[in-house]
Amino acid sequence: MDKFLIEGNGPLTGEVAASGAKNAALPILCASLLTDDELRLSNVPDLHDVVTTKKLLAQMGVAVASPGPGLFAATARGITTCVAPYELVKTMRASILVLGPLLAKRGHAEVSLPGGCAIGARPVDLHLMGLKAMGAEITLEDGFIKARATRLKGARIYFDTVTVTGTENLLMAAVLADGETVLENAAREPEIVDLANCLTAMGAKISGAGTGTIVVQGVRDLHGADHRVIPDRIEGGTFLVAAAITRGRVRLTKTDPNALDAVIVKLQQAGAKVATGADWIDVDMRHQRPHSVNLHTMAHPGFPTDMQAQFMALDCYADGVGTIRETIFENRFMHAQELLRLGADIRIEGNTAIVTGREKLKGAPVMATDLRASAALVLAAIAAEGTTKIDRVYHIDRGYEHIEEKLGALGARIARVKD
Ligand code: EPZ
Repeated sequence: MDKFLIEGNGPLTGEVAASGAKNAALPILCASLLTDDELRLSNVPDLHDVVTTKKLLAQMGVAVASPGPGLFAATARGITTCVAPYELVKTMRASILVLGPLLAKRGHAEVSLPGGCAIGARPVDLHLMGLKAMGAEITLEDGFIKARATRLKGARIYFDTVTVTGTENLLMAAVLADGETVLENAAREPEIVDLANCLTAMGAKISGAGTGTIVVQGVRDLHGADHRVIPDRIEGGTFLVAAAITRGRVRLTKTDPNALDAVIVKLQQAGAKVATGADWIDVDMRHQRPHSVNLHTMAHPGFPTDMQAQFMALDCYADGVGTIRETIFENRFMHAQELLRLGADIRIEGNTAIVTGREKLKGAPVMATDLRASAALVLAAIAAEGTTKIDRVYHIDRGYEHIEEKLGALGARIARVKD
């Protein structure tokens, strides 16, 4: 398994471009199942999870092509099976996103139950609740979700908990259903809006995406389309924190500042000077030690849980005490144990971490446990004194495109070593 060897160094400086958004690309790739025509995508990031999704579609018989960097074309006309096997689903929970489109287009789907993951149980009960409300017959057999529906019917669906992929699954189910579907307490993430925009380009009739209430008028068929995936706000936010934690100055380009409001506010509270333009964000820490920030994670437009670990790393170097409350997932502090190995001062009390900043941390061997925890360890290691070895970096490859090249171009000393 690959490792990262990171030498602590001074401030990062320069310019880095955001890649396409993983959490927009994954549902949009699955939307190719909703039409017999070709769906053509651009700005698709080169990530392990994207490769897994392409494999998942291809093993169903979807004709999948990558005609160039960031480009993806898929035609699902000739699919031969509606089964998502455990071997693929266990490596990527987002495979659940084939359930809604397969049911809507083919009337049948068998998707392996994803199982838990490092950050939590990650149930899919709300996905199934919504599909049942639309008339699907769903059974759980041999570790599989088995679903059938002659034609899904529009329904009013209320999500007890805001769920991103739950909203996406039901949105994709609704676009071909008979009648009107209303999704209440829907997720409002930018990735939902991007999926809705792609579906609209395919002929879907959707209003309210990005708000808590999404209304869909079902249509008989969707046609092919061309769609460019939005920038990845979490990858981008990670690079902004890299600037702050090393007291440097970085410009993030090819991004959407509006998708990073909560993160920008927190960086300003940490003492960074932040300037923004149409598609760029400039973070200047001016060689100053960051101030501690308090945050609690919430559904969008609140502070994103996917940026929690990165800000815990920042607080480890700050000039005070910061409290971080994780309200979305029940076990998303795994990075804390590893940060302690670098000399951080973190106390966990239930779903709250109390972080007392230190002027400097010291490099040490650590282990990545999940995608965003890995990113936090990379950030802490770049700002630490000495060498840090990070094991199991396959976690980071799931969600960050060529991270060592991008950080290296900003001045970080990071090398990937093979076992
Ligand atoms: C999406 O996961 C993202 N993944 C996650 O990003 C992100 O952390 C999460 O949304 C929250 O923003 C993708 O988009 C592929 P949820 P998802 O359903 O949809 C509970 C990353 O690092 N819940 O919004 O699986 C659930 O347990 C990944 O890129 C139910 O109870 O998350 C959690 O407490 C990690 N029943 C809360 O809702 C359900 O049926 C939010 O989960 C579904 C969810």
